[in-house]
Formats: sequence, C-alpha cells, structure tokens
Amino acid sequence: MKNITVIGAGTMGNGIAHAFAQKDFNVNLVDISADTLEKAIGTIGKNLDRMVEREKINDEDKTNTLANITTYTDITEGVKGVDLVVEAATENIDLKLKIFKQLDEICDTNTLLATNTSSISITEIASVTKRAEKVIGMHFMNPVPIMKLVEVIRGKLTSDEVTSAVMKMSKTLGKIPVEVNDAPGFVANRILMPMINEAIYTLHENISSVEGIDTVMILGMSHPMGPLHLADFIGLDVCLSILEVMHKGFGGEKYIPCSLLVNMVAAGKLGIKSGEGFYDYSEGPRNKKVSAQFTK
Ligand SMILES: NC(=O)c1ccc[n+]([C@@H]2O[C@H](COP(=O)([O-])OP(=O)(O)OC[C@H]3O[C@@H](n4cnc5c(N)ncnc54)[C@H](O)[C@@H]3O)[C@@H](O)[C@H]2O)c1
Repeated sequence: MKNITVIGAGTMGNGIAHAFAQKDFNVNLVDISADTLEKAIGTIGKNLDRMVEREKINDEDKTNTLANITTYTDITEGVKGVDLVVEAATENIDLKLKIFKQLDEICDTNTLLATNTSSISITEIASVTKRAEKVIGMHFMNPVPIMKLVEVIRGKLTSDEVTSAVMKMSKTLGKIPVEVNDAPGFVANRILMPMINEAIYTLHENISSVEGIDTVMILGMSHPMGPLHLADFIGLDVCLSILEVMHKGFGGEKYIPCSLLVNMVAAGKLGIKSGEGFYDYSEGPRNKKVSAQFTK
C-alpha cells in the first residue's frame, strides 16, 4: 500500500497526511474547504520546520514530505487509484455515513476504508458500504506526527486480513498499534472523556480554578497536561460529540456532558482551533492564559 487519501484537513487530517507523507507514501489530502487545505499545508510546513530545528529530519526530508502531498476539494478526483482512505472529517455520524456511502461508490473495489472517528461505531459506518470486511477504525492521537499510539478498531465484519494489513501499516508509520473491539468511545475515549467531563463539572461547581484543576492532575497524577488544557487541544466540539455518542450508546448518567461544555460549544469557544476555550490562545497556541470568563 503506497497511495493514500486522507479525507478532512483539520486538526487530525493534516497530522495524518504529514505522518504518511514523511514515510514516503503518496498522499491525497481532501477537504470541502480550499482555505482549510491551504492552512493544512502551512501547518504541516511549520511542524516540519520544528522537526528540522530539532534535527529530527533534514531540509531534504522536509521538501520530500511536502512533495508527497497533493490537495483536492473534489473527493472523486482525490480517491482515484488509492489503496487506503483514512477519513478524518468532522465527528458527526450523518456526515460519516454519507461520506462512506460515497466512498464505497467511487473507490476501487480493493480500496480499504478506514475512519479516524473517536467514538462512532465502525460497524454502523461499515453498514452503509458493500465492503464491510474492508472497513476499519484507525484512531490516531493528536498531534499525529508525535503520538505513537494507533487504536485499530475492528468492526463486527472487519476481516482478519484487513486488520493485520492496517496493524502492519501503522508500524510502517513508526506507530504502535493496539487492536480493540468496536464499542462507543473504544478504549481511549471511553476512559479519557469521563475524566475530562468530570474536570469540567469540577470547574462548573467552583471546586477549583482552571489552573488549579489542571495543576492537580499534572503534579498529582503525573499527567503531561491538565484535562482542561487537553480538552482545548482536542477541541471542545469533538469532546462534546464523543460524550454524546457514549451517552447514547451506554445510557445512564455517567456520560451526560456537563452543561458548561454544552454552552461553551454553543458559544463557539472550541479551544485552540477557535482561539479560546478554558484558556485564551490569542497570543498563539503555545502562549496560553486562562480565559477571561474563568478569572472573574
Ligand atoms: N481532535 C482530536 O484530538 C482528535 C483525536 C483523534 C480523533 N479525532 C477524530 O478525527 C476526526 C476529525 O477531527 P478534527 O479534530 O480533525 O476536526 P476538525 O474540525 O479540526 O476538522 C474536520 C475537517 O473535516 C472537513 N470536512 C467536513 N466535511 C467534509 C467532507 N464532506 N469532505 C471532506 N472534508 C470534510 C472540515 O472542513 C474540517 O476541515 C473526527 O472524527 C474526530 O473525532 C479527533
């Protein structure tokens, strides 16, 4: 497998394209927004510059990586002749079902279809295609070029052959794949999202401040970043969608999203990608200060 398409060029899509291109795959990057595609190439360029500065790669590697990526706004053009599609569009079930139905119609019959969904059922996504045995979850972590884990999720009908091909390909990318079964949130978000939601409830109930909560988890639990900062990093809209999928899938009160999270998403405060969440990133993503709404 040498030719890959990534659908969606947002936070995850640009990272996935970067990771494949750096390992010399030919990558077609598709988004409905030409502006997002342009920004994605800019982001990949900046991330590669940082790797050059840290002497992890050289200038030639950077040039080759960028040359391996072609951008498309037309999905039909973007999937021509590829071996694998990795879908990383917005976390919305109706959108994913629509995209997979279309992919099944326009891709070669041998093309494997993977989704980077954080929580949505792989089996349900596969059900809108006529190739359920070739549909699989390939859940990369953010930021993709750095994070080692790929959660490889088998739908009910995913074949052994396809699972082992995707496990092998993840290793070729320099990642460590872990095979898991299909259930809302899989393993990573099943465990992570209740913690993030609980951190938001803790803030909402005024038990501590944004920095207080994050510091407790960093110093007390040796987490590399606090849960509220991590939520901003993931995207509050993505966190909300995952919790909604888990709440719908499992029922009960455990996964009900905190009203503060719901309201922040409604107000467009989505974290780093919108410039503000629990923290304010107006001076850049690496220069955070607590958002004014939580310092009053
Ligand atoms: N953000 C994270 O930390 C994280 C981590 C792991 C997995 N994920 C998953 O990755 C996926 C993408 O998340 P994200 O954070 O990158 O979202 P994002 O909002 O940053 O990007 C989504 C992109 O999808 C594009 N898009 C929407 N509809 C499209 C279509 N029909 N065709 C092509 N492109 C389309 C949008 O224009 C946007 O650029 C989601 O399924 C999410 O759950 C996110």
